[in-house]
Amino acid sequence: MCGIVGYVGAKEAGPILIEGLRRLEYRGYDSAGLAVISPEGRLGTVKEAGKIAQLEGILDEGMPPGTCGIAHTRWATHGAPNRLNAHPHWSQGRDIALVHNGIIENAEVIRSKLSDLGYIFETQTDTEAVVHLIDEAFQENSTLEDAVLTALRQVEGAYGLAVVSSRDPGKIVVARKGSPLLIGIGKNGENLVGSDASAVIQHTKEVVYLDDGDCAVLTAEGYRVFHIEEGNVQRSVHQIEWDLEAAEKGGYEHFMLKEICEQPESIRNVMRGRLLEETGDVRLGGITLSDEELAGIRRIVITACGTSWHAALIGEYMLEELTGIPVEVEYASEFRYRSPVLEDGTLVLAISQSGETADTLAALEEARARGASTMGIVNTVGSSIARKTDFGIYLHAGPEIGVASTKAFTSQIVALALFTLYLGRRRHLSILQGRELVAALRALPDQVAQTLALGPLTKELAVVYGDAQNFLYLGRGYQFPVALEGALKLKEVSYIHAEGYPAAEMKHGPIALIDDDMPVVALAPRDSVYAKVVSNIEEVKARSGRILAVVSGDAPELIGKVDHLIEVPHTVPALLPVLTSIPLQLLAYHAAIHRNRDVDQPRNLAKSVTVE
Ligand code: AGP
Repeated sequence: MCGIVGYVGAKEAGPILIEGLRRLEYRGYDSAGLAVISPEGRLGTVKEAGKIAQLEGILDEGMPPGTCGIAHTRWATHGAPNRLNAHPHWSQGRDIALVHNGIIENAEVIRSKLSDLGYIFETQTDTEAVVHLIDEAFQENSTLEDAVLTALRQVEGAYGLAVVSSRDPGKIVVARKGSPLLIGIGKNGENLVGSDASAVIQHTKEVVYLDDGDCAVLTAEGYRVFHIEEGNVQRSVHQIEWDLEAAEKGGYEHFMLKEICEQPESIRNVMRGRLLEETGDVRLGGITLSDEELAGIRRIVITACGTSWHAALIGEYMLEELTGIPVEVEYASEFRYRSPVLEDGTLVLAISQSGETADTLAALEEARARGASTMGIVNTVGSSIARKTDFGIYLHAGPEIGVASTKAFTSQIVALALFTLYLGRRRHLSILQGRELVAALRALPDQVAQTLALGPLTKELAVVYGDAQNFLYLGRGYQFPVALEGALKLKEVSYIHAEGYPAAEMKHGPIALIDDDMPVVALAPRDSVYAKVVSNIEEVKARSGRILAVVSGDAPELIGKVDHLIEVPHTVPALLPVLTSIPLQLLAYHAAIHRNRDVDQPRNLAKSVTVE
């Protein structure tokens, strides 16, 4: 995701800002830029698509010397990753510069208001609306902080931002709502701002974490924190105990654990600005089909690889159940080499976190060659698959660094639920059914946060069962793909062999494997097939299998039949996979630790398989 760093003090800001951006590179980005104000109040900005090295190459083009500045690494969410859309964004008078992390939900409303006032927009970003809003607010405010406050009271959405202006030089104004931001308290007359500790840790270990609604003014002499509603506030100073490497992981030991724990926020982001409670519907700006084209969809083929293929299977269940459209799911590597029949009215949907998986890209090209309409559900903005599809949905999950996909998987399920709701409400799904799903989606991030509390239990289980050579994962219905995903997670990070199976299929072979050396993970949330799964569990128990059952809510029928109950909150069947997959992610993570594996970079694996 995007990274922010700012400096004000006695030293030359440029090199400090570049160094700070380097510390934020791990977050993933596709463009970078910085703005510096000279002592005479001249504001200079340079920005470039690509890596920080490109930015360094053009630093002396229009970058004045100066001791106050802000910088940004951008991970594109709105607008292609190019120089124009890179941050900082500036006002028309080139006397205000702003960097931003987050999503402005009412950017379009602000744009049209300011366009009517004569403002000219140069970029496709949501961020540009904010800098012009501050410019407009400056007309009735004498200080930068007051202008920022006036502007932010008109903004909806999530932001972590930093602003400088030659109209009020020598200070940085920052604000946080939904995107982390902290102040680094420097020594000898300097202060910094960063998206996380890694941006400032080189200069100070004393930081102030801003809360949602907080703003602050930083100068060389000091800083002041105030809340957008409550005025001046005191925030405690924290001592960073981490070293730099740990700071990049936000204090977590591995990116995989960090990304598992980011899921409440990543799921909020995939839904941000898209849920319509009143009409039980969703707003999907990336779906550019007309009502007639939407009605003309008679079949959907979903193609993907690995974890994304498991998400696709969950999509198949929800799309068929809630829209009545026939769906089939294809491994991209198979689809691309067989002669798929794609009659008129077939939509080919490609799911990919990286947007660069070679097999999925090739399958998409095959679909296009056969005249099918194509759609993408992708995390990486501007990626090959995103650019090759006719329309799509971005996950906004932020970069996923760990090779094992976790937050992208749950965000893919939510994106599929949004698409299902979008299609269903334009077919026969009632407003009440729509409202039920919207309410369940709205409640999901908090339920995910509750589920993360299973960390200690899964760590214990990983020690108890982590020496097993084989695992079997069983599930029915929506939980069958979760069984597949749980097995994949375990094998790819701990190297323990694991298989996912439809629970009923066990008696057609795998039951021969059951003994007390092979733990069985049964997905048994309270859904329409719960009783059937209970029977399957009894079959395993009768053969002295050891069972870890994932349930939603209480499960009295399983007391005494299983060795461990792992309880997640309950929700609608289509969203239960989001909750039941989290303990499986945690179990896989802890099993990998137990076996001293390279959790973030497992052997033989790549984060994006860009070769056949
Ligand atoms: C999942 O944990 C794996 N890293 C892998 O299966 C991955 O899901 C697959 O390579 C597809 O990647 P994509 O989503 O980026 O296309």
